[in-house]
Amino acid sequence: MEKTSRISGFHKLPPEERLKLVKNFAGLSDEEAKMIGDCGALEQSKVDIMIENVIGSIMIPLGIATNFQINGKDYLIPMATEESSVVAAASNAARMAREAGGFSAETTDPIMIGQIQIVDVPDPEEAAERIVARKDELLELAKAQDSILVKFGGGPRDITVKVLDTSEGKMLRVHLMVDVRDAMGANAVNTMAEAISSLLEEISGGRTLLKIISNLAIYRIAKAKVIFPKELIGGGEVVDNILKAYAFAENDIFRASTHNKGIMNGIAAVALATGQDHRAIEAGAHVYAAMDHYKPLTRYYKDEKGNIVGEIELPMAVATIGGATKVHPEFQICQKILGCENAREMAGVFAAVGLAQNFAAVRALSDEGIQKGHMALHARNIVVMAGAEGEDIERVANQLIKEGNVRMGRAKEILEGK
Ligand code: MEV
Repeated sequence: MEKTSRISGFHKLPPEERLKLVKNFAGLSDEEAKMIGDCGALEQSKVDIMIENVIGSIMIPLGIATNFQINGKDYLIPMATEESSVVAAASNAARMAREAGGFSAETTDPIMIGQIQIVDVPDPEEAAERIVARKDELLELAKAQDSILVKFGGGPRDITVKVLDTSEGKMLRVHLMVDVRDAMGANAVNTMAEAISSLLEEISGGRTLLKIISNLAIYRIAKAKVIFPKELIGGGEVVDNILKAYAFAENDIFRASTHNKGIMNGIAAVALATGQDHRAIEAGAHVYAAMDHYKPLTRYYKDEKGNIVGEIELPMAVATIGGATKVHPEFQICQKILGCENAREMAGVFAAVGLAQNFAAVRALSDEGIQKGHMALHARNIVVMAGAEGEDIERVANQLIKEGNVRMGRAKEILEGK
């Protein structure tokens, strides 16, 4: 029979039945189907309510970055990633940072932006003024949507309006600023944006179209800073090379993209482990980097003693309540390991992790290169896959590196004593 992806009623089937269909379609073995259908610590019923058309769940390695000290507090950072070296690099940079007094971090209030697009407005400039004049009324209406958020000190804060001159004619962009406290904010903000849209139509005489949160959270900023004494990181030459590497990223968008990817290696990993909307964080980070022209999200400079100062600044929409964390016990456990009391603390920690990750990468790249460190970890993986156990792992991995031949075949030969 011809294979078809048109499966009517797929969403109504229980996960096991869906898995059977997928197994047949893709020719999965019993073992493969069992593996992909296994939900681990999660109950299948929970996975089934998190997303649609569930067939199972997928495991990603969870590591712990050690040594982090931020604003004088110690943290163990849970990091979920498939990329080797990331956790080790973050831990290593945090160890050096720790000896120098640790990271300092600061954050702004957790203000998110809800966007409302208004089209077909008869007189956009005048309508914009009318909306601003009735700001209090609109804010009150938005406030009435979420009494719990308001009770916890959050809620709508401001409204701004801009006339956009587009290929589809003039339209209005209304920004509703909301303090979302410890939530990511999408639900609260989207609800409020929708709730005020009828009144906006009435005031403007136009038609509201899109009503949705913006992931460019420019009012929800996290910053972190660290000073690495030059002796700790290999001396003045290393400092100078890091500054040159940074200047490269500052002046070349091809390098800046990779530089920022390194930052997100750390932030995305802790975001994934703790159940954050990491796509929102990534989207915000990259547009923030491009506000002026695309540039690195970190900054490095030398202080008067010749030590290197590292700083990071980026939007950070993270949550300690709501979202996926509510149903996913492993996200909850990772949040417990991280030990943040609120979203602002968490945002500062994420920023410090990004800075540590970036510093480790730039230092390695401007010194011995990253392949050496990568190779050591890669060699261990290869050796384990070749069947090594216990002390043999380190011995054979070292031998592979010494020979410059990190291959499974050679690992097997060494294990067989050849
Ligand atoms: C690899 O995942 C990340 C790096 O490329 C980051 C960088 O180049 O700065 C090493």
